[in-house]
Amino acid sequence: MGFIRVLPIESTAMPESSSDLDLSHPSPRPGAGSKGWRYAPAAFVKALLLAFVVCAVQAAEGPGHAAIASAHPLATRAGFEVLDQGGNAFDAAVAVSAALAVVEPQGSGLGGGGFWLLRRAEDGKTVILDGRETAPLTAGPDMYRDARPGASLDGPLAAGIPGLPAALVHLAEHFGRLPLEKSLAPAIRHAETGFAVGERYAVAVKPRVAALQGSPAASAIFLDHYAAPRAGFLLVQKDLAETLRRIAREGRAGFYGGSTAQRLVQGVRAGGGIWQGADLERYSVMERFPLRGRYRGISISSAAPPSSGGTVLLEALNILSGYDLARLDGAARKHLVIEAERRAYRDRDLYLGDPAFVRMPLGRLLSPAYAAGLRSSIRLDRALPSAALGAVAPSRQGDNTTHFSIVDKDGNLVAATLSVNNAFGSGFVPAGTGVLLNDEMDDFATAPGQPNSYGLVGGAANAIAPGKRMLSSMTPTFLETPERVAVLGTPGGSRIISMVLLAVLDFAEGHGPESWVSVGRFHHQYLPDAVEYEPDGLSREDIRGLEKLGHTLQKVPYRYGDMQAVQWDKRGNRLSAASDPRGEGWAEVK
Ligand code: GLY
Repeated sequence: MGFIRVLPIESTAMPESSSDLDLSHPSPRPGAGSKGWRYAPAAFVKALLLAFVVCAVQAAEGPGHAAIASAHPLATRAGFEVLDQGGNAFDAAVAVSAALAVVEPQGSGLGGGGFWLLRRAEDGKTVILDGRETAPLTAGPDMYRDARPGASLDGPLAAGIPGLPAALVHLAEHFGRLPLEKSLAPAIRHAETGFAVGERYAVAVKPRVAALQGSPAASAIFLDHYAAPRAGFLLVQKDLAETLRRIAREGRAGFYGGSTAQRLVQGVRAGGGIWQGADLERYSVMERFPLRGRYRGISISSAAPPSSGGTVLLEALNILSGYDLARLDGAARKHLVIEAERRAYRDRDLYLGDPAFVRMPLGRLLSPAYAAGLRSSIRLDRALPSAALGAVAPSRQGDNTTHFSIVDKDGNLVAATLSVNNAFGSGFVPAGTGVLLNDEMDDFATAPGQPNSYGLVGGAANAIAPGKRMLSSMTPTFLETPERVAVLGTPGGSRIISMVLLAVLDFAEGHGPESWVSVGRFHHQYLPDAVEYEPDGLSREDIRGLEKLGHTLQKVPYRYGDMQAVQWDKRGNRLSAASDPRGEGWAEVK
């Protein structure tokens, strides 16, 4: 099966939602804007046209050099290796995705999926390549009700049908210039000869030792004599190298057919899973229209459902566009960001799911009128308890995901967020494949209709159904003004969206990638009704101010996220890139 191009329907082809209204100032009268244009001085119009032409020429020409930021130095180098051979950003995206699958197995892999936001410079085509996993064809809403505890997290019953291999083949065939043999070569080399794992691997593997021990193939690869390896451990993945070679030779059939498919299905079924050959044969990637919005002159493109990322991001920005944040002190500003998140995350839980299965009111959720309604429920002097908005079952997502960002010399753009869900996914490797399977089934509402740990019932939009894609929070994003383009994203489960939101607000203040990836982080997701913050995420004054407004604050005992970002500043045609200081990533401009 090939791929499906999703046509403009209500949920994927939005008019740009206007977030530019600044309701803290007098609103212009209807018609005032067009009158202003008619009487604009000629010199001003000429200058504007000239600026537009200069930017258009530069955009058409591209920056002349390339930038890559990824979560691992070997993955960033794999991207440049492929660019050096004449590849474009999309070939580099294949190389980086495959290399991350090898060198950061706790975050993503061939056994997982993701979302690649793409902009092709030559024709401006902008799409989300949706390689999200699907539920097996024999899956159903009650499949975990009588299963052993943890069955949606560990072992093969937790695994959705992988989308990452199909997405790599699609990228190479429809957007790239190089054959897969070339773009997969660096990943194959690292899998074959091995590499020394870093501290992040050593930390991430500890809580997953028991899950990995449940799979003989996984523990032979990822553990050191059945125990958690330390940093420096040489991770060699011969079977994975062989699977990558089959994909390089045969394309899609190298994973979804033949001996790989046979071993995947056999292994999953022997371990108690429910995959069949038809699940793999029928898997399709999708090209979707990204969601688009505007915030204070910035055009935003981001992930459409089945990721909730773009919807929640744009809804929160629409709410915030009614305030002049720059004029507020730290606590007042953060209070508004938190209140916007509370409302946007609630709608995520209430409405969002796979567009092939659920009709979503996206046009309404992203409309200025809806944002104005939500804004009118925000008090500047007091936090609103989430319960007052009405009860909806909340969901949280596994946070071992990864992100990379690429701009090539021609101005092609890629922002890709990839995942196996929790660290090392399900911890299960079907024998002879080297493919570590995801545990994305846990991103579904696994017990819809049942009260969850908050005593709330819900989750119908994201209930399990055969072939359905589970709701995600991945938020690969482009930000554009006439002068600047930003390509960014991060791992972090449900916190992904609030991290990208903080980066957008930082971009709006004129800061660059070093700043976006470094800003202190805080997060509210409707329920639990608490503001989570990193050790340096809030100042003492912020904490005092937010507590006075009635917020419950919870310090997270670690710094979270691993943002990877590139900026193309068209004014001097300059590229800059940054990797999150919290991680081990590598950003480079060449
Ligand atoms: N599994 C993490 C996400 O999809 O957001």
